[in-house]
This record gives sequence, structure tokens and C-alpha cells, in this order.
Amino acid sequence: MHPLPFLLSTFALSAAATKINSTYEYVVVGSGPGGGPLAANLARAGHSVLLLEAGDDQGSNPNISQILNFNKAGNDPTTRWDFFVKHSDDPEREKKFEHYVYRRANGEFYVGMSPPKGASALGIYYPRAGTLGGCAMHNAGVSVNAADTDWNYIAEITGDETWGTEEMRRHLLSIENAVYAVNDTTHGHSGYLTLTQARVSVGNGSDGGALVQIVADAVGQGEVEVEALLKRDMNAQDKGRDLRTGIFGQIRHADAEGRRVGPNSFIKATLVDGRKFPLTVSLNSLVTRVLFEKEANDTSPRAVGVEYLEGESLYSADPRSSKNATGVVKQVTASREVIISGGVFNSPQILKLSGIGPASELLKWNISVVVDLPGVGTRMSDNYETSIIGLAQRDLHNVSGTHAVMLKSAAAIAANRTRDLYLFCGSFSFEGYWPGFPTEFGKSEYECAIVHMNPHSQDGTVTLRSSDPRDMPEINFRFYEEGEDEDLKAILDGVKWARSVLAKAPAGIAPFRELHPCKSTEVNCTDAEQKEWIKLNTYSHHATSTCQIGGDDDRLAVLDSKFRVRGVKGLRVVDASAFPRVPGAFPVLPTFMLSEKAFRDILADA
Ligand SMILES: Cc1cc2nc3c(=O)[nH]c(=O)nc-3n(C[C@H](O)[C@H](O)[C@H](O)COP(=O)(O)OP(=O)(O)OC[C@H]3O[C@@H](n4cnc5c(N)ncnc54)[C@H](O)[C@@H]3O)c2cc1C
Ligand SMILES: *[C@@H]1O[C@H](CO)[C@@H](O)[C@H](O)[C@H]1NC(C)=O
Ligand SMILES: *[C@@H]1O[C@H](CO)[C@@H](O)[C@H](O)[C@H]1NC(C)=O
Ligand SMILES: *[C@@H]1O[C@H](CO)[C@@H](O)[C@H](O)[C@H]1NC(C)=O
Ligand SMILES: *[C@@H]1O[C@H](CO)[C@@H](O)[C@H](O)[C@H]1NC(C)=O
Ligand SMILES: *[C@@H]1O[C@H](CO)[C@@H](O)[C@H](O)[C@H]1NC(C)=O
Ligand SMILES: *[C@@H]1O[C@H](CO)[C@@H](O)[C@H](O)[C@H]1NC(C)=O
Ligand SMILES: *[C@@H]1O[C@H](CO)[C@@H](O)[C@H](O)[C@H]1NC(C)=O
Ligand SMILES: *[C@@H]1O[C@H](CO)[C@@H](O)[C@H](O)[C@H]1NC(C)=O
Ligand SMILES: *[C@@H]1O[C@H](CO)[C@@H](O)[C@H](O)[C@H]1NC(C)=O
Ligand SMILES: *[C@@H]1O[C@H](CO)[C@@H](O)[C@H](O)[C@H]1NC(C)=O
Repeated sequence: MHPLPFLLSTFALSAAATKINSTYEYVVVGSGPGGGPLAANLARAGHSVLLLEAGDDQGSNPNISQILNFNKAGNDPTTRWDFFVKHSDDPEREKKFEHYVYRRANGEFYVGMSPPKGASALGIYYPRAGTLGGCAMHNAGVSVNAADTDWNYIAEITGDETWGTEEMRRHLLSIENAVYAVNDTTHGHSGYLTLTQARVSVGNGSDGGALVQIVADAVGQGEVEVEALLKRDMNAQDKGRDLRTGIFGQIRHADAEGRRVGPNSFIKATLVDGRKFPLTVSLNSLVTRVLFEKEANDTSPRAVGVEYLEGESLYSADPRSSKNATGVVKQVTASREVIISGGVFNSPQILKLSGIGPASELLKWNISVVVDLPGVGTRMSDNYETSIIGLAQRDLHNVSGTHAVMLKSAAAIAANRTRDLYLFCGSFSFEGYWPGFPTEFGKSEYECAIVHMNPHSQDGTVTLRSSDPRDMPEINFRFYEEGEDEDLKAILDGVKWARSVLAKAPAGIAPFRELHPCKSTEVNCTDAEQKEWIKLNTYSHHATSTCQIGGDDDRLAVLDSKFRVRGVKGLRVVDASAFPRVPGAFPVLPTFMLSEKAFRDILADA
């Protein structure tokens, strides 16, 4: 019998108790799905590791620890990092985003399109979590493997076969504890990442059952028991997996009691383990730059440590931050490597502050150039998301939970491509993020949220706003710069599909009064009008690719296939910023897998 090494701990780490040595073998910056498990794994392999995290530990705050509280978590000031981004270079288009955010004269937020006098524009809200465990502490936890084509693409552009889908599957097996597939030997059962399937209420005669049944009928699964469909494994080992459509059970990184499992729980299990692994965690530690040394007759500098500021809420995205809190400057040495895992916005910011990035941008801020690496903070990408939401004829009392439906757009069917739409439907309202989200429309609300995979556009940027490491960078996604027609058409396919299915709900539930993209009161909702609404109101929260892996011939590649920052030694980036494209419909499971791969690659070099 395998021991249970990953018991969930409910204690909160205290910042004050940490004693910091001046030197560690590895210094890891950021404790999200990229950095957190990597730090724990390196320590478990016997290496001394310092994990620096800008936030504190909210693992015993029930808003954060219970996965079904994710809306509370997203609004909780103890973990929130509030970023405000652009979706385009056109200021007029930006302000037509229905949940555009302004700062009122009295300091409070205003959300909407008719700002009061004296309010200043902030931008489109983009959520992140600055806390032990990163965004895995306030996400919805949906855990889907990327398509084989997404993994094989990395192998193709780098020539490194270890990115192939078979090898990546082995990494999934070593990290997961797939309790939803208990006797299935094609899954792992002794990893740190407990995966469960969401429960959906579909009792006989219930509205929930009826609403799943109409979807099953529409995808040709009407004869299969709804309960069986809701257990269908979207991460099955199955050669044809990425071509299959229909209903699937939604998998989450949480245990059967709904407690979040992920970097936070793995780090704590490592700290309390009787085997006394050499892991040190320093909370409230905002890393400001990487320190380099140039060896005498060597042209590439070596990362030898980091500088950080110790103090609470130092980063300006933290709603509790204040300009006058400057923190205490500290330095620490890494005898082997520095690993940056600050996430998609912060990893490129840290590299640039350290002198690694486009030379022209660094010189503008008087940052001395260590390596002119023009790709840092470029080619950012994200899934496009929208939703069709309406009100049923009556309260949907017994509908709880959401079910997933994967579909192919008409273009994907025509080209025999992999599924490209991920929908999740239920009685909830999710229209993106803003301070105070979501809007609750009452118990008759019903939505199908739509995630569009593999968007064409990869033109987002993260650039410095100043040389102050406490400032947030400028972030512009530049959605729909490329492939606009194809992507909007595919999303509209999903919207129309959901609308036609919902129209078939039993009388008493249907007809739905649609709130958007079409208002039911407007009979003139053309395809062109729907596309325009979708384009203006597309939201996202799966950003990747700002420090991407690429081939030796790729001028904009930031990392080689082993996560090494090009042009320096002893420095890697391990988080969602490393993906050359958004991996599938949801990035968190692929990021956990990438972290496991990085651990193996780093050990091989040690
Ligand atoms: C609201 C929300 C819901 C989501 N839902 C899902 C979902 O259901 N499924 C899914 O697959 N994905 C989801 N995601 C996305 C997913 O959670 C992220 O892609 C994933 O967490 C990325 O991991 P990461 O390690 O790259 O970075 P992050 O999770 O962002 O972690 C980065 C960490 O680094 C720390 N840090 C940053 N800068 C510094 C610094 N200078 N010094 C020290 N520490 C620093 C941060 O505090 C943070 O803890 C969601 C994201 C959000 C925001
Ligand atoms: C800190 O340094 C001391 C003295 O070198 C060493 O004994 C100890 O193991 C170190 N602790 C960690 C966590 O690296
Ligand atoms: C949890 O969230 C609620 C509101 O969403 C808030 O009132 C409460 O203070 C939060 N709890 C903690 C422990 O932060
Ligand atoms: C798993 O296998 C065990 C032993 O054969 C059996 O007792 C148990 O019922 C199985 N569980 C499931 C969910 O199939
Ligand atoms: C569901 O209810 C109907 C009528 O109430 C009954 O005929 C049917 O057998 C029930 N089905 C199940 C699976 O319980
Ligand atoms: C579900 O709710 C509907 C409408 O309120 C009601 O008619 C039905 O009996 C309920 N079904 C169950 C199984 O509770
Ligand atoms: C520097 O050059 C000398 C002589 O060529 C060599 O012995 C030494 O190993 C080199 N050092 C490094 C760090 O490469
Ligand atoms: C810093 O500013 C805040 C208000 O933003 C104030 O409450 C606090 O007293 C100030 N602290 C110092 C040390 O000046
Ligand atoms: C850069 O340095 C120059 C010369 O010292 C100074 O004039 C300029 O203001 C600095 N720019 C910034 C952005 O700090
Ligand atoms: C679609 O592609 C799959 C493999 O990716 C292949 O097995 C199948 O035959 C193709 N179907 C058509 C209609 O071309
Ligand atoms: C539909 O027509 C009405 C009345 O002419 C107009 O107010 C509304 O904006 C139109 N809807 C859309 C989505 O264009």
C-alpha cells in the first residue's frame, strides 16, 4: 500500500517565522502551478530551495480553500491582484466593453459604460492571485489536458522530442491522483494533484436532468444515461480523444470535500513532512531583479541570485498596497540556478527589470542591458471567452453544478481539425471579471459559457510602465488582430448551437429570455451584430506565452526547450508564460505538467 504523502494541511504559513540563509542551491520566484510544485519537488529530491512569494498564505481562509467559493475568492482582497488591461489599440473600442472599469473621484470603482463625472479610465479588469499557490487559489480549477497537437507543436518547433504527447502523458500520470477514475490504470493515483469530477444534480424529473438531456440529444448521445455522460473522462488516454465531442464530466483540482488541491497543499505537505526536506518558503517577498555575474573569459553572464523587497502588499496590483510602503531590500544567492515563475505578466516584468528584454525598451528606463532579447513580453495569447445567458420561465431550483460540452466549429468539422469549442452550461452567471463580479440574475438564470481554443492572434504585449518593480506593467492583448473572421465565426457557431439547444428545453423552462448576445426583445439580431457584440465583449483569463519557448532560429524565442533563458546561464522561466501557444481550453493542468517536466530537466542538469 502506498503511504498517503499529501495530506491536506489546513494551517496557514506565517511570514515572521522564516529564517533565510544567504545561499540556496535553487531560488524559485513565485509559487503558482509553475513554481510551487517545482520548488517542492526539487526539495524532495534533496536540494536546498528558497521559494520567494510576493503574497501571503490564505490556505485556511474558506473563501480561498473551498473551490466552490471561487467567486468569493476572486473578490477577496487578501489574494487579489487587480490588473487593468487593453484588448486593442483603439481607445473607443475599449470603452464599449460592457464591464469597463473606472476609478471614481472618491477612489471607488465604477464598472460600466456611463462613467460619472470625474472618473478616470482604468481599463478591462484582469484577475490574478498574489498568494501562496498563485491563481490556482482562486481559479475554477477546471483541469483539462491540452490536445496532442498542442504538445507536439512544441516538439516540432524545438526539435526536442521530450515535448511529445506520450512523454507529457507520463508527466500527467506522475503528478495526478485521479480519484474520479479510481481503478483506471491509464491514470496516476499517487501524485500530489487530487482530481475529482464536479457533481451535477440530474435526479429523475429534475430541471437539471432535463437540461442535460437536451444537450445529450443534440450531440447524438440521447440514448446514453445522463449520469454516465457526466462521468465521461475528458482526459482519457485515447488516441481519438481530441476529435471527440459531446458531454464530459468536468474535472477539478480539488478533493471530494471540495477543498482546493494544488501548489499550496503540496508545498505545505513538503514543509511538514517528517523527512525534513530542505525547502524554505519566504512570503511577502517581492522579487525585483535577478543578479548576474560575468565570469572572466566567458561571454554569457550567470544568474547568481535575486534581490527582493520584504513587506506586505508591496505590489501595486494588490488592492491594499500604498505608494509609501517600500519594503526592506534583501538579496539571496543561488549556487545552482534561479527559476522565475511569476506568471504571464510578472515573469516578463522581472526579466526586463533584470536587463533581459528588448534593448530599446530597457534603455528607455535606464536599465542596463544584460541580453537584448526582443521576444520578452511579446506574442501573448489567450483563449477567447463569451457566454450566452438567458432567464428561464421559472426558477431552476434543483439545477446545480455545470456540465461540459466539447464541440467543433463548422470550420473545424470541414477541415477535420480537433475540437475547438469548450462549453459549460448551468444555472449561473459568468460574463468575465470586474470588481464585484458576477451579476446575479436570480434563480431562473441559465448560461452556456464558451471557451474558444487555439485563437489565431498572438499579438499581446507586456511592457514596462516604469522601472519601479512595484508598478504593474502595461498589458495589451490585441485580440482579433489576426484571423478575426475565422475566430468570430467559430465562436458564433457555439452561441447559435447553444441557443438552438436551449430552445428545446421542456415547456415551463423554455422559452428562455435571452440577455445576450441577443436581447430577446430585439428581433433584429443579425450575425453581424452578434459578432460585433462578441468582439467588443470577449473576455479571457488564460493568458500565456510572454516568455515563450522557441527554436534556435526563432528571433523572438525567450527560452530554449529546457526552459533556459537564452543568452545567460543559470536562469530558467517555468510557468504559463513559457507555452508558445495557449494549451487547449484551460491552461492550469498543462502548467502543472510543464512544471513536472521542468523538474526532470533541471535534475538532469544538476
Ligand atoms: C479567476 C481565474 C480563474 C481561472 N480558472 C481556470 C480554470 O478553471 N482552469 C484552468 O485551467 N485555468 C484557470 N485559470 C488560469 C490558471 O489558474 C493560470 O493559468 C495558472 O495559475 C498559471 O500558473 P502560473 O504558475 O503561470 O502563474 P500564477 O498562477 O499567476 O502564479 C504566479 C505566482 O507568482 C507570484 N509572483 C509574481 N510576481 C512575483 C514577484 N516579483 N516576486 C515574488 N512572487 C511573485 C504571484 O504572487 C503568484 O503567486 C484561471 C485564472 C484566473 C485568474
Ligand atoms: C541554512 O544554512 C545552515 C548553515 O549553513 C545549514 O545548516 C542549513 O541546513 C541551511 N538551511 C537551509 C534550509 O538551507
Ligand atoms: C470572504 O468573502 C466575503 C465576501 O465575499 C467577505 O465578506 C469575507 O470577509 C471574506 N472572508 C475572509 C476570511 O476574508
Ligand atoms: C475498484 O476495484 C476494487 C477492487 O477490485 C473494487 O472493490 C471497487 O469497487 C472498484 N471501484 C470502482 C469505482 O470501480
Ligand atoms: C423516472 O420517473 C419516471 C416517472 O416519474 C419513471 O417512469 C422512471 O422509471 C424513472 N426513471 C428512473 C431512472 O428512476
Ligand atoms: C425540480 O424543480 C421543478 C420546478 O421547481 C419541480 O417541478 C420538480 O419537481 C423538481 N424535481 C426534483 C427532482 O426535485
Ligand atoms: C578561462 O580561460 C582559461 C584559459 O583559457 C581557462 O583555463 C579557464 O577554464 C576559463 N574559464 C572559464 C570560466 O571558462
Ligand atoms: C502610508 O499611506 C497610508 C495611506 O495610503 C497611510 O495610512 C499610512 O499611515 C502611510 N504610512 C507611512 C509610513 O507613511
Ligand atoms: C535616464 O538617465 C538620464 C541621465 O541620467 C536621465 O536624464 C533620465 O531622466 C533617466 N530616465 C529615466 C526614465 O529614469
Ligand atoms: C480525420 O482525421 C483523423 C485523424 O486525425 C482520421 O482518422 C480520419 O479518418 C479523418 N477523417 C476524415 C473524414 O478525413
Ligand atoms: C435593433 O433595432 C433596435 C430598434 O431599431 C435598435 O435600438 C437596436 O440597437 C438594434 N439592435 C442591435 C443589436 O443592433
